[in-house]
Amino acid sequence: MRAARLEAFVTHTEHPMSKTLVIGASGTVGSELARLLAARGHEVVRSTHRAPTQPGQVQVDLATRQGLAAAFEGVTRAFLLSPPGHAQQDALLVPLIEEARERGLAKVVLLSAMGANADEAAPLRKAELALERSGLAWNVIRPNWFMQNFNTFWLHGLREQGAIFLPVGRAKGSFVDARDIAAVAAELLSRSDLDGRDFDLTGAEAFDHHEVAAILSRETGRTLGFEDITPEAMLKGLLDAQVPRPYAEFLVLILGFFKAGYAERTTDAVQAILGRAPGSFAQYAKDYRAAWLV
Ligand SMILES: NC(=O)c1ccc[n+]([C@@H]2O[C@H](COP(=O)([O-])OP(=O)(O)OC[C@H]3O[C@@H](n4cnc5c(N)ncnc54)[C@H](OP(=O)(O)O)[C@@H]3O)[C@@H](O)[C@H]2O)c1
Repeated sequence: MRAARLEAFVTHTEHPMSKTLVIGASGTVGSELARLLAARGHEVVRSTHRAPTQPGQVQVDLATRQGLAAAFEGVTRAFLLSPPGHAQQDALLVPLIEEARERGLAKVVLLSAMGANADEAAPLRKAELALERSGLAWNVIRPNWFMQNFNTFWLHGLREQGAIFLPVGRAKGSFVDARDIAAVAAELLSRSDLDGRDFDLTGAEAFDHHEVAAILSRETGRTLGFEDITPEAMLKGLLDAQVPRPYAEFLVLILGFFKAGYAERTTDAVQAILGRAPGSFAQYAKDYRAAWLV
């Protein structure tokens, strides 16, 4: 049963040339996705909320909706995400979905987050439902916590104090490599046989943060550790780092879900869609080792 399902997933249905809008194209997932789509022959429209500096970029500010309609000019497919920092993700995403619907796009892939569908009233879930009910061909991808958080959000503690500071105790997470998320999105934007489905994306194995620190230590030759902190200390650290309060509170809330064990499970979605195993944490640590060297 399982083998038959995997086989069905890796049957490719390539589409003719597509003009594909990538929201968040300078970010972790979006930059890799734009690269992969271009390599597959898509004409890629890369969104940025800053002044464009390169050909193929288009300026869209999702917070003000400035440039939103123009970004969809001639576009046939779109990848949507809500940039970090905004806790009411539906307010940013629903206007994009509306625009896609009005223009009758051939396919929309939405980057959500694992666990978002646990609460029908959650802002990200509302955006998922708006897409699912839009009448468009769609996929929703819900990744677990990214491996790349250790070279972005949690980088400062690792570089400056040699530790990861999070309120998650010994709970484990099946961290996923953002490069796999991009590869899955590129695949889903290039085929239609999986339309109308949602996928939780995880790595193959779950680790707690002591184990993560041990892998990073092995790779860098530095002694890196993990310190379990209180949710209050986490919130204070985020606010001190100028993270807007609603988003800081949202992060502390979902870190509580991590601590409760909800980030531990693994899925076979990456393997099923890409026909290969997800990238390992050890490989991620090898590829990004320069980030943690001082
Ligand atoms: N990190 C995790 O562990 C995790 C786990 C599950 C789900 N997710 C989801 O992943 C998404 C983030 O993906 P990512 O890490 O690839 O993002 P990212 O690296 O932060 O990139 C997002 C990009 O959005 C652009 N942006 C910022 N403000 C904007 C605005 N007002 N309007 C339009 N664009 C704006 C920025 O590029 P410019 O400066 O060029 O505009 C930024 O580089 C979030 O929705 C999050 O919920 C993350």
